[in-house]
Amino acid sequence: MSGFAVNQIADPTLYGDPQRLQQFYDWLRREHPVAWADPEGFRPFWVVSRHADIRELERQPEIFNAGPRMTLLPIPVEQANVAIFGVESGVFPLTAMDGAHHQAMRALTQDFFLPKNIRKLESAIAKHATAFVARMAQDEGSCDLATDIAFWYPLRVAMAILGIDEQDEARMLRLTHELFGASDPAVRRPGLSEAEHIVAVKQDYIAFFDAITRDRQANPREDVATLIATGMPGGAEMSAEERLGYYVIVATAGHDTTAASIVGGMQALLDNPEQMALLKAHPELMKTFVNEAIRWTAPVKHFMRNVTQDYTLHGQTLRAGDHVLLSFGAATRDPEAFGDADCFRIDRALNNHLAFGHGPHTCLGQYLAKLEIEAFFTAFFAQIATIAPAGPPIYTEGSFVSGIRSMPVRYSRL
Ligand code: HEM
Repeated sequence: MSGFAVNQIADPTLYGDPQRLQQFYDWLRREHPVAWADPEGFRPFWVVSRHADIRELERQPEIFNAGPRMTLLPIPVEQANVAIFGVESGVFPLTAMDGAHHQAMRALTQDFFLPKNIRKLESAIAKHATAFVARMAQDEGSCDLATDIAFWYPLRVAMAILGIDEQDEARMLRLTHELFGASDPAVRRPGLSEAEHIVAVKQDYIAFFDAITRDRQANPREDVATLIATGMPGGAEMSAEERLGYYVIVATAGHDTTAASIVGGMQALLDNPEQMALLKAHPELMKTFVNEAIRWTAPVKHFMRNVTQDYTLHGQTLRAGDHVLLSFGAATRDPEAFGDADCFRIDRALNNHLAFGHGPHTCLGQYLAKLEIEAFFTAFFAQIATIAPAGPPIYTEGSFVSGIRSMPVRYSRL
C-alpha cells in the first residue's frame, strides 16, 4: 500500500513537502505512468510522468495542443477567467498557442534569447549577481536566501531585459508571487477567494503593461518590451490579449523559476557537503552543477496539453478532447533516464532533463536562466566563505511553479 492517489497531483499541500512529493512521483512513474485523475474541483485529465513518454507527446504538438487548457486551475478560477478574459488560462501567452501562429509569435523575441545574444549580457548579469551577494554582507551574517536575495535577483535581470524601471520591481515581484501562489492562503489577498484573487491580480497586470505599450509605441527602445509593443507576428497586428500574455510570460517566467533553482541548488549543496566541497575545489564544474540544480529543483512542475485525436500510450487511450498533464517534476527524477536519479551530482555529464520542457514550447529563456544561476554561484563563492542553515526551508504549496519560498541561512564572508 503506497497510501497515494493520483488525484493528489492537484493538492497544493503535496508540493509543500518535498520528500513526500518525490515519493508520490516515484509511485506515479512506477505504478501509473498514464493515469486518469479526477480531483474534486478540477476538470478531469490524464497524467503522464515518465521522461520518455513526455518527450514522445511533446514531439507531436499537432496531436497534443498547448492551448487553451495550459495549466491545472480549479474550475471556479477557469470559469472566472473565461467570463472575464475569454480563455481558461486568463492570459493568452506563448505557452497557450499552437502551430504557425505560435512560431510567428515566438520568432518576435527568439533571437534575443539565443545563446550568442544572451552571452552579450554576461557582464551585466555578473554585476547584478555580485551586487545581490554583496547585499548579504549588510545583513550581519544571516538572511533569508529566498526572500531577501534570490527572488530579487532574477527579477532585476528580467526587468532589465524587458526594460522596466527599477522602482517598479517590487510591484512586479508581488504580482508574480500572487499569480503563481494563488492556491497558497499565505499568498492570497485577504478576503478574496482564489478566483477573485487571480482576477484582481490580472487586472493589475493589465493596467501596468498598458502604460508600457503606449510608451514603447511612442518611444521605441532597445528592449524586449519594444519588441512586444511593436511586434507584427506574421505581418499582422497582435491582439491586446496576446500582447498582455507576452509581457506576462517574459516578465514572470524567469524569476520564481530561476530563484527556485538558485535556492534549491544551495539547499542541495548544504544537504550534500561533499558536493559543495567538490564545487569549491573544481569551479570548472559550475555548468554541470547549474544544470543539475535545475534538474533537481524542476521549478515548473507541469504544463497541460489538449488532445486533438485519439492516441494510445501504454495501453490507455487518450481521447480527442481529453487533457493531459505532463509532469516535468516526475520526469526529472525518472530512473530510466538518469543513473542515480535521486542523487544530487554536480558532475552529472548526461543530463537531458525536462525541467525546461521539450518540443516547440521548450523554454525560451533557458540560456538566460543558466547564465543567471551560474553568475549567482560564481559571485557567491567569490564573496562568501561558509554557509549553514539557520532554520528549516519552507516550500511553496503550489502545483505549477513551486520550490523553496523561505530559506534562513547563516554565513561568513571571505
Ligand atoms: C517556457 C521552465 C526560466 C521564458 C517554459 C516551459 C518550462 C520552463 C517547463 C514550458 C516548456 C514546454 O511546454 O515544453 C523554466 C525553468 C526556468 C525558466 C525551470 C528556470 C530555471 C525562464 C527564463 C525566461 C523564460 C529566465 C526568460 C524570459 C520562457 C518562455 C516560455 C517558457 C517565454 C514559453 C515558450 C513557448 O511557449 O514557446 N519554461 N523556465 N523561462 N519559458 Fe522558461
